[in-house]
Amino acid sequence: MSELNLILLGPPGAGKGTQAERLRGDFNLPYLATGDMLRAHVKEGSELGQKAKEFMDAGDLVPDELIIAMLLEKIDAEGDDGFLLDGFPRTVPQADALDRAIADRSRRLTAALLIDAPDEVLVRRISGRRVAQSGRVYHVDSNPPEVDGVDDEDGSPLIIRDDDKPETVKNRLETYHRQTVPLIEYYESRGILQRFDGTRPPTEVHDHVRATLATLRLEERL
Ligand code: AP5
Repeated sequence: MSELNLILLGPPGAGKGTQAERLRGDFNLPYLATGDMLRAHVKEGSELGQKAKEFMDAGDLVPDELIIAMLLEKIDAEGDDGFLLDGFPRTVPQADALDRAIADRSRRLTAALLIDAPDEVLVRRISGRRVAQSGRVYHVDSNPPEVDGVDDEDGSPLIIRDDDKPETVKNRLETYHRQTVPLIEYYESRGILQRFDGTRPPTEVHDHVRATLATLRLEERL
């Protein structure tokens, strides 16, 4: 079976992490999420974490030169048989760097999966998001834990992400429109963009993505 090299693209709160959790199980793919990697660096107080924190807390993007090296190292370490990228690329220079790195390794991207939703939906989503230590994502209304405030899996307390404060969310959305939206055209012009309606319930979005990937694999074999 051919490898799947996938990018999850979309605004903050569209449901990329929620879908990634499901797709990883479906396709047994290494999941490389730059936001999670950066939060781990911040938590351990590494040099990269210290540099990244101020950008993240402000809702700005971390500079390309810090992100690109971190991500390409991860692909080399864990992504030999395919990968699911979440949160990368987010700028045209990041997309160019990924293109070059993939071509150098005689590989190609299978698809850029765009999960989209209007800003007012995203703001509601983010304000109700609660996150477990394991990375599992809940929502107080649409996807609540069995017991209020704790993870279903290990009972640890759920937290609100530092960058989910309303004033930061506004800047994250503006940053997305300014710096990441150009990637929609970038991947569309390369013929690998697939669009999904992120306002649909999570299971529906998941079914649609899975069906699309199954079709892509079938077409590849023809
Ligand atoms: P990152 O962690 O990547 O955050 P993001 O892209 O802003 O995305 P989110 O994690 O907020 O949203 P999501 O789409 O995963 O939604 P989720 O599934 O949680 O980045 C954080 C920061 O790191 C950036 O701001 C930047 O500073 C830095 N950074 C990261 N990568 C970088 C890069 N490449 N370059 C530079 N800087 C970088 O869902 C949201 C909520 O909605 C949840 O509560 C969920 O339960 C609920 N929900 C999900 N789907 C549905 C649905 N279909 N219906 C109803 N509710 C739903």
